[in-house]
Amino acid sequence: MKRARLGFNVDHIATVRQARLSLWPDPIGLAAIAEVAGAEQITLHLREDRRHVQERDYFLLRETKKGLLNLEMAATPAMLELVLKHPPDMVTLVPERRQELTTEGGLEVVACEEGLKKAIQKLKEKGVVVSLFIDPNLRQVEASLKVGAQRVELHTGCYCNENNVQLRLKEQQRIGEAARHALQLGLGCAAGHGLDYANVAPIAAMEEIDELNIGHSIVARALYVGMERAIKDMLQCMLRP
Ligand code: PXP
Repeated sequence: MKRARLGFNVDHIATVRQARLSLWPDPIGLAAIAEVAGAEQITLHLREDRRHVQERDYFLLRETKKGLLNLEMAATPAMLELVLKHPPDMVTLVPERRQELTTEGGLEVVACEEGLKKAIQKLKEKGVVVSLFIDPNLRQVEASLKVGAQRVELHTGCYCNENNVQLRLKEQQRIGEAARHALQLGLGCAAGHGLDYANVAPIAAMEEIDELNIGHSIVARALYVGMERAIKDMLQCMLRP
């Protein structure tokens, strides 16, 4: 494979719209442009506080998307009820705290084993592929397999935020080890959070990672160069050497 698939996260298109509670910009049309430009997947996070993506966006994207639809969500009873009735292709279970600026850490899979097991089972019965957003930690990878997930998404936030070169390299190695471990256990492996045009290459080069979910940096670049160019530039940065 020449590169991982790109899951374009449309959350921050909705953030701009919600800032004025208006109709624009609309994630639906821009997701279509992103797909035409080469993004193989649309990712969105329907948060409990509905701060950016709204239910309307989810329902419309289910109808209009051409590739895969990956819904990030907390495993709450209300969200489960919604997706069991209207399932996407894939669900990525994430932790959610109301006060956070963005998803700050991975799921504590071990601590929530029983609840996760039940939620994952129900989703799988509906044909939904289930991924867990976890820190790049071997224990969390093993726990993800134990609770029945088919995939994991490794949190790249620490790698992206680290300015010290040595510490960043260490974090990169941790991601690589977790990805290898996931693959050895038979789990599919994605990565995401904070990835941009400058830092994506070492993560994109990892053969074990077959999916990258990227939002903020693409939406920000699209303001300068347009959505099509922003997606194509990211796909170019993701090419494996
Ligand atoms: N993956 C997950 C699980 C996320 O929660 C987010 C942020 O919504 C992303 C990927 C994308 O992160 P970013 O917007 O920083 O590219």
